[in-house]
Amino acid sequence: MADTEHRDFLAIPDYTKAELIALFDLAERMRKGEYTDKPLAGKSVAMIFMKASTRTRVSFEVGTWQLGGHALFLSPRDVQLGRGEPIADTARVLSRYVDGIMIRTFAHAELEELAKFASVPVINGLTDLLHPCQVLADLLTIRQHLGTIDGKKVAWIGDGNNMANSWINAAYVLGFDLTLACPEGYEPDAEILKRAQSTASVRVVRDSHEAAEGADVVNTDVWASMGQEEEQAVREKAFKGYIVDAGLMKRASSGAIFMHCLPAHRGEEVSADVIDGGQSVVWDEAENRLHVQKAVMANTIGGVAL
Ligand code: CP
Ligand code: NVA
Repeated sequence: MADTEHRDFLAIPDYTKAELIALFDLAERMRKGEYTDKPLAGKSVAMIFMKASTRTRVSFEVGTWQLGGHALFLSPRDVQLGRGEPIADTARVLSRYVDGIMIRTFAHAELEELAKFASVPVINGLTDLLHPCQVLADLLTIRQHLGTIDGKKVAWIGDGNNMANSWINAAYVLGFDLTLACPEGYEPDAEILKRAQSTASVRVVRDSHEAAEGADVVNTDVWASMGQEEEQAVREKAFKGYIVDAGLMKRASSGAIFMHCLPAHRGEEVSADVIDGGQSVVWDEAENRLHVQKAVMANTIGGVAL
């Protein structure tokens, strides 16, 4: 099963703009039920989850099956990684059994180490730094609801976290306007931001209403990500005022959509009337994880050209 000529998906810039457009075309065919090929027939995908998951776990497992393959759920309670076996050894061993590895973990360096030592494609299912599969699903949802991301204004409200960093990477490759409102001390990754500012209009501001002004897409996420649970109280203070509520949505364009990767905390980063209201596309967004990840797996693991 080991194949040294392979392609990983660790971050959005692993694909060019043309490849991303082709990937979304493929994912859309999958969403519409027009794609019935089984590029993962006879193939297995290992899914390592060092953190909890509902959407990522279910969409990868179901998606692998729909493409004809078989997925294995590996949690630290079950595999030796959880007892300290090095990630490099895990990568080399899994590569002898499976045809692709999806991992959700803490440090981004762990993902890179896995990809370095694996001889099969590795897919990033979320790290502390990035969540690229989610932002691919978000971009597919924008295409579904607004037709295109070209020329659209995207607002990010809240933490400069893994989701924010992946949005910045998306702006870097696709060139849309992105304004992030983050409290002091909770800005996105400085290097990722600097690189994106070389190709796109990406700004970080403090005022959430300023970021939302005229936006076509308003996006937010929890104030404390997985692994930051003990910071919840401190973060609640720091993020006060960074709620996406009806008042903030009024600043956005009249046809604006609201997005959230989920899970959400109603009454913290988003009010219930917004997430459960008419502008919210969060359920389509969650569904699109399945379609877009199937396109990623078809390409990286199944060898389907883009
Ligand atoms: N949005 C997302 O990645 O959800 P899970 O944590 O449930 O996988
Ligand atoms: N920023 C969140 C995303 C969850 C899907 C986290 O990392 O917990």
